[in-house]
Amino acid sequence: MNRNIVCIGAGYIGGPTMAVIAKMNPDRKVIVVDINKERVDAWNSADYSLPIYEPALVDVVKEVRGKNLFFSTDIEGAVKECDIVFVGVNTPTKMFGKGAGRASDLQYWESTAREIKRFANGDKIIVEKSTLPVRTAAAMEAILNDHADYEFTVLSNPEFLAEGTAIKDLLEPDRVLVGGPQTPSGIAAINEVVDIYAAWVAREKILTTNVWSAELTKLAANAFLAQRVSSINAIAGLCEATGADVDEVAKVVGADSRIGPKFLKAGPGFGGSCFKKDVLNLVYLCESFGLHTAAEYWMGVVKMNDHQQERIVSRLFKEMFNTLANKKIALFGFAFKADTGDTRETPAGTVARLLADEHVRLTITDPKALENAKKDMADLDGIVYELDEYKAVEGADAIVLMTDWRHYPSLDWQKIFDSMRKPALIFDTRNCLDGAKLKDIGFKVLNIGK
Ligand code: NAD
Ligand code: UGA
Repeated sequence: MNRNIVCIGAGYIGGPTMAVIAKMNPDRKVIVVDINKERVDAWNSADYSLPIYEPALVDVVKEVRGKNLFFSTDIEGAVKECDIVFVGVNTPTKMFGKGAGRASDLQYWESTAREIKRFANGDKIIVEKSTLPVRTAAAMEAILNDHADYEFTVLSNPEFLAEGTAIKDLLEPDRVLVGGPQTPSGIAAINEVVDIYAAWVAREKILTTNVWSAELTKLAANAFLAQRVSSINAIAGLCEATGADVDEVAKVVGADSRIGPKFLKAGPGFGGSCFKKDVLNLVYLCESFGLHTAAEYWMGVVKMNDHQQERIVSRLFKEMFNTLANKKIALFGFAFKADTGDTRETPAGTVARLLADEHVRLTITDPKALENAKKDMADLDGIVYELDEYKAVEGADAIVLMTDWRHYPSLDWQKIFDSMRKPALIFDTRNCLDGAKLKDIGFKVLNIGK
């Protein structure tokens, strides 16, 4: 019998993941619950104004919402109705007390465990979907199984999707990972979760491990990806100093099949809700186990990333005659990457704040992330938010391109140049524009790693 599924947490992970699970498992009921009523209402909105922007998400939700996919705030009812409970709540970096600035804040996680225990009416399989420190499942089990009326088996099924390509990544994953206790009941639970994915993912791509390996693999995978971005950004600075071109270097380095071409694009540094949080979490874990050299190694990845945004502003400062005060600068793109409205940990936010410190008159434009930008920058007065790039740039001294939105290269750059104050500078931190063409028009062009 295919059992019903509830997912606690209707965010960037819970929403898209459960929409795809529901689409591919039409015989299972899937309920996504959240304490945030506004978010749930948006998932249920008649005009499909979903709470997150993700290409193709709306099509999947249209196909299954109300059939076998439901969004609700009734956590108790959903836990009672379902035997398989995914937990996809947020696990941000802890900002207080022990481990502040590094460890994961597990308060949302723990309160979820207590809720599940309170509402359960039978044995349940609990599936960690959130990214968690290794051995969290032990804490979850300790809470759940202490003087409990029912049996709870805790599995780890970390998610590897990237924002902007979430639906594609879910439909065609490189791999799915399910970790669980290597006991008869643990293995039976693993098989139940494997069956959910086997509805559309080839069996050989569904990997099973013990629960600790699964938890640690997720942190390791993000750390490896973040490390590649910091590595190429570290080379970018050297390229600027020596006349080498980072895109040429990356192309040839990545042509080595042992290295591969992906995640070697130099830029303003990685953003997003997870890379920094997960690397810091790894640093904290290493420190907790006395592995101080390993902790320092991973901390270097974060330091390099922070440095990249400081470098952008220092270069701008130098190229704009050592004063930015009262100059108008337009930030093109505020999302942490293209094809998302997500601005969590976006490098554009850091650059905007550093520019505001220099008393720059800032205008921010972004096709999908302006509302989030307004919320993020609400404590700063005087920033102008403008959807139309041509209006955003009127009278500006410089453009700093922060997000590689697909349409930016095909904007009318002559028109943009004509409306700017001269000399007009463009800092393309994503190296996505045609630099030669911009120079021909008359722009002074800065790039990362060139
Ligand atoms: P999010 O903030 O978008 O969503 C989390 C949701 O959980 C929120 O809507 C919040 O209201 C809800 N929530 C918190 N406590 C709750 C409770 N007690 N009961 C019910 N709902 C509760 O976060 P996200 O980006 O979806 O990330 C969730 C987890 O998934 C994190 O651990 C993250 O590291 C991991 N992850 C995220 C991504 C991604 O692309 N965003 C990818 C892989 C893994
Ligand atoms: C990342 C991972 O790619 C996912 O596998 C993982 O599931 C997810 O984190 C998570 O745990 O949340 P995401 O942060 O959504 O996904 O997006 P990425 O495509 O990885 O980009 C992260 C950041 O690195 C972006 O700011 C991007 O612009 C930057 N980046 C990426 C580069 O600067 N250069 C590159 O070559 C690649």
